[in-house]
Amino acid sequence: MAINRTSSHGEWSSRTAFILAATGSAVGLGNIWKFPYIAGENGGGAFVIIYILCVLFIGIPIMLSEVYLGKRGRLNPIASINYISEKENRSNKWQIIGFIGILAGILILSYYSVIAGWTMAYGARTAFGVINDIDAAGAALMFTEFISDPERLLAWHTIFSIITIIVVSRGVKSGLESAVTRLMPALLVLLIALVIYSSIEGDFYNGIRFMLYPDFSQITWKTVLVAMGQAFFSLSLGMGALMVYGSYLSEKISIPQTCVIVASLDTLVALLAGLAIFPIVISSGLEMTQGPGLIFQTLTVAFGAMPGGQLFGTLFFILLIFAAWTSSISLIEPMIIWIIEKYNLTRIKAAAIAGGMAWLLGIGTIVSFNLGSEVKFFNMTFFELLDYITSNILLPLGGILISIYVSWLVSKDSINAELQIKSKILKLIWYISARVIAPIAVIFVMLNALGIDINILR
Ligand code: PHE
Repeated sequence: MAINRTSSHGEWSSRTAFILAATGSAVGLGNIWKFPYIAGENGGGAFVIIYILCVLFIGIPIMLSEVYLGKRGRLNPIASINYISEKENRSNKWQIIGFIGILAGILILSYYSVIAGWTMAYGARTAFGVINDIDAAGAALMFTEFISDPERLLAWHTIFSIITIIVVSRGVKSGLESAVTRLMPALLVLLIALVIYSSIEGDFYNGIRFMLYPDFSQITWKTVLVAMGQAFFSLSLGMGALMVYGSYLSEKISIPQTCVIVASLDTLVALLAGLAIFPIVISSGLEMTQGPGLIFQTLTVAFGAMPGGQLFGTLFFILLIFAAWTSSISLIEPMIIWIIEKYNLTRIKAAAIAGGMAWLLGIGTIVSFNLGSEVKFFNMTFFELLDYITSNILLPLGGILISIYVSWLVSKDSINAELQIKSKILKLIWYISARVIAPIAVIFVMLNALGIDINILR
């Protein structure tokens, strides 16, 4: 079948547009909501160092491979891989990578949208002055009351889902480029302002010490593996999001540099979020290990106390909602393009189907914070289970398959042509990382995810 391989979804207007879109996908709740709370739960400094190593040696090599697949395949994730496999005489079973990605995207979106809903609710509370002068105990109580009300959570989840569906049904690129161009820099500026506030009002010394001073005695293999899962999540790796964005890349653009820029921006935002949050956690006597509520409680205390906090906090939450929204688009997009290309449906219908599925599943997450908080699967609530299956199983599995497929099974000529890594040393580093280091490291994540205790290296 002859496929028109350039017109099916068009191209980014420039390299910068791709960088912005990929950064829009990467930077989101993962950096600002999830990174601080899992770093907090896993002891701080040593976790942060391991996280950075994972980004460098596992994340970036896999990212190159993933963008390569999209750029060469130029279709939805499943069809792209089938196209490449046909050209390279490889089995069509590799399309499983695409299926894993599409599934992971919808599963993540289902709870991502619930948390994005929390962000909207807190934005509204901040705007209306509800949190003015709130103390740490008040913030903790407010959060507990908030998540124990399923109707409220459902309402916000529904609003966020509808916005996402409306936006993606109009096509990803119109709007996304310009939104990201303006809003990402603004988010960065606000985050830096928050770090400055935190350095003045918070316990900056102990906050930074918590975040940067590595206490390796706290580290177990489990911690290493959680850090790795977070690297996948935060960089949007292993599920086809970057593959889809890569498929809009024009032929001329070189992949490696772009990937390094995206990964650096993503890591910068996560670290700034940590620098902003931890000092306030300490100075206000909140717990580092309180889990998903960490930023909501910490930020309300900070915005409630800071001069102009009502305005500043509202702006901050609005920008965070936008960051979550640009990430959600990339979570849902692989499934949408797949439905459009495979079943010939309109974009609007595809968006409604994919978004509807995520919305429905999201109800499970909502209930796991209140009515169903006692319902456990392998000792985890429904939300924790979903997070576990996606971050610790599906994304790493997708990532390892992508890395192996590209670095072992695709012809070197094609890789050289698309990746255009000029320096021989860098090329060697990429090959070693993608072929050996990343797959082996990721296997540890998988073993851990399956509950196998790895004692050999301890
Ligand atoms: N990287 C996004 C974030 O950090 C979440 C995401 C994961 C988006 C996987 C796309 C794919 O918020």
